[in-house]
Parts: sequence; C-alpha cells; structure tokens
Amino acid sequence: MTIDSLQNFTTHILMKKAIYPGTFDPITRGHIDMVQRAVKCCEHLIVGVAKSTPKNVWFSTEERVALVKDALKHLENVEVKVFEGLLVEFANKENAGFLIRGVRAFSDFEYELQMALINRKLNADIETMFLMPAEEYGYVSSSRVREIAALGGDIGRYVTPRTLQALKDKIVSRSETKDTPRRSAAGG
Ligand code: COA
Repeated sequence: MTIDSLQNFTTHILMKKAIYPGTFDPITRGHIDMVQRAVKCCEHLIVGVAKSTPKNVWFSTEERVALVKDALKHLENVEVKVFEGLLVEFANKENAGFLIRGVRAFSDFEYELQMALINRKLNADIETMFLMPAEEYGYVSSSRVREIAALGGDIGRYVTPRTLQALKDKIVSRSETKDTPRRSAAGG
C-alpha cells in the first residue's frame, strides 16, 4: 500500500465518524428518529450535547445527557458526549468528518444553511449532512414539547416514557421553585 492510498484509506475511515449535535432539552422522538437515520450513514455516531447554550434550558447538562443516553440505549455505535465551545472544534477533537443536522421544514433551511456555511468557513474539512425526519416528527421541537407538557397536554407520542416522567417531575419542581419566593415574600 502506498503512502497516498494509506492516507486516503485513513481519511475514508475518519469521515465515517459523524456528530449529531444539539441542546436536547429534552430529547424527543424526532431526535431519536434522526439518530436512527444517521447511524445508517456512518460507522460511528457521536451525539453531542451542548453544555453552554443561549437557550433558557429546563434540564441541566447532566439531566439532558442521562435522558439522551437512555433514549438511545437500543442503538449500537452511538456515543453520547458533552461539548463546549465551537462545534467544529469538538468535531476536530473527535476526528469526526461529518456534522448531521435535521431539516424538518422549509423554515429550517435558511438557518441550517447559514450554520453549515459558517461551520465550513471555520473548518473546511468538516461537512454538514442534512437528513429529513419522519413526517410525523416534522413539526416537533423540544420547546413545543415543554410548552405542551407545561400546559397539561399529552406529549406521550413525542417522547420516551422516561423523558415524559422527567418532564412531569421538572414541571412540579419548577412550580415549587416559583412558589417558594412568593410564599416567603408574603410571609416577610
Ligand atoms: N426532531 C425534533 N426536534 C428537532 C429536530 C428533530 N428532528 N431537529 C431540530 N429539532 C429542534 C431542536 O430540538 C431545537 O428545538 P428548540 O429550539 O425547541 O430547543 C430546534 O429544533 C433546533 O434548534 P437549534 O438551535 O438549531 O439546534 P439545537 O439547539 O438542537 O443545537 C447547536 C444547536 C448546539 C448545534 C449550535 O448552537 C452549536 O453548534 N453550538 C456550538 C457553538 C458553535 O459552534 N457555534 C457556531 C455554529 S454556527
């Protein structure tokens, strides 16, 4: 084997590692559907859970990771990791050649295109690959799921039983935290 063909071979192997990044606050069946599609396209998939996010998250990083791990435990070749800082740097550190993103609707496209192009400017060796989720999850997002759950709606079809329970627990703990200062203010 020549040095060139060895290099091609190595690159080929490295490109088979991909990252599916997100906030996962919490993971939904739409995300699970995406991961199931992504594992068919690569040898090894890392689900990257963003630690710091501008989003006002309900779940801590540890809670989000635990729910992601539980929801994906049936899948082989999937690893769940936390990342901080630039996504392309995380991909580089993990020797991953692809970023996987889902495009649910036309409205996602412009934002996703912008993100893909910025990531390409930051690191031209990393490609973004877009996958389409199953139709039934085309309109699902973590914030919609949280909103419906908070308003008492049925979200059983959008999340796993463990995530459903975690959401119910979180709604109780959030309402208790909100109530506590009011009570003490009234008392004082
Ligand atoms: N099923 C269900 N929900 C889906 C989905 C699918 N197939 N595809 C997308 N979504 C949801 C997500 O849950 C999220 O919902 P939310 O807004 O209610 O939380 C929304 O659609 C997409 O949000 P977005 O902000 O695009 O993605 P994200 O929160 O999942 O992840 C990061 C964003 C972490 C990938 C991005 O912020 C990042 O790369 N951060 C690192 C810093 C960096 O490198 N910045 C430069 C990149 S431009």
